[in-house]
Amino acid sequence: MKIQDATVLITGANRGIGKSFAEEALARGARKVYAAARDPRTVTTPGVEPVRLDITDPAAIAELAERLTDVDILVNNAGVALSTSIIDDDLETIRREMEVNYYGPLQVSRAFAPTLTAREGHLLIVNSALSWAVIPGTAPYAATKAASWMLANALRLELAPKVGVTSLHVGYVDTDMAAGVTGEKVPPAEVAREAFDGIEKGAMEVLVDGTSRQVKAALSLDPSALYGS
Ligand SMILES: NC(=O)c1ccc[n+]([C@@H]2O[C@H](COP(=O)([O-])OP(=O)(O)OC[C@H]3O[C@@H](n4cnc5c(N)ncnc54)[C@H](OP(=O)(O)O)[C@@H]3O)[C@@H](O)[C@H]2O)c1
Repeated sequence: MKIQDATVLITGANRGIGKSFAEEALARGARKVYAAARDPRTVTTPGVEPVRLDITDPAAIAELAERLTDVDILVNNAGVALSTSIIDDDLETIRREMEVNYYGPLQVSRAFAPTLTAREGHLLIVNSALSWAVIPGTAPYAATKAASWMLANALRLELAPKVGVTSLHVGYVDTDMAAGVTGEKVPPAEVAREAFDGIEKGAMEVLVDGTSRQVKAALSLDPSALYGS
């Protein structure tokens, strides 16, 4: 599906990868870009239409889906990284992370499914190399992104043939979320470019970097390839 002349809704579009999505959609000639944020006053990209959306608020999701009936492309980008250990972190924090990263895109996708189906549109979920492997300090987050990867597969099955679904995977990206990480990080603008290239080609998955490609390939090996013997 072409981005040019399409109407695009991006969650978490005020900063990080979401802001780059908004800029890239405009650069590709999108007709309209709805930049959703918990606080729309934090959306600073010229040319977009800020809209309020907390992806864990079912009433707000329903109200937005009822109002924005012109959305062709939904980018489920908003997410959090709150906890580091399945054992040591409190359960409420771990549940909260699943609420945002799994139930968030699930609820938004369900709400917009009728519009996307009517318009034969496209849906993307921003996932991670951590959908496919866990490294120390990322365990609860990785579980949310594994669930969200399967959510993308499930949506593809249930929304076919009218709606295309893309799952995007990437290692570390240079945003606030990975501020504490040293080492190589992908620029968020590159993630947005690869994502929209994938949508334009109808790709089921977009693997942005070497990390995501290596981790996915390792899934076909014995688990010791990822987790030691
Ligand atoms: N950075 C990485 O290394 C990396 C790697 C792979 C995948 N990802 C994924 O990429 C996506 C974007 O992350 P990022 O790196 O751009 O992180 P970020 O800079 O921390 O931005 C996160 C965005 O999500 C929004 N958000 C959080 N909770 C929300 C909620 N309940 N409702 C609506 N919006 C909410 C934030 O809004 P506020 O400004 O209101 O907090 C912000 O706009 C996430 O799904 C993340 O898991 C990131």
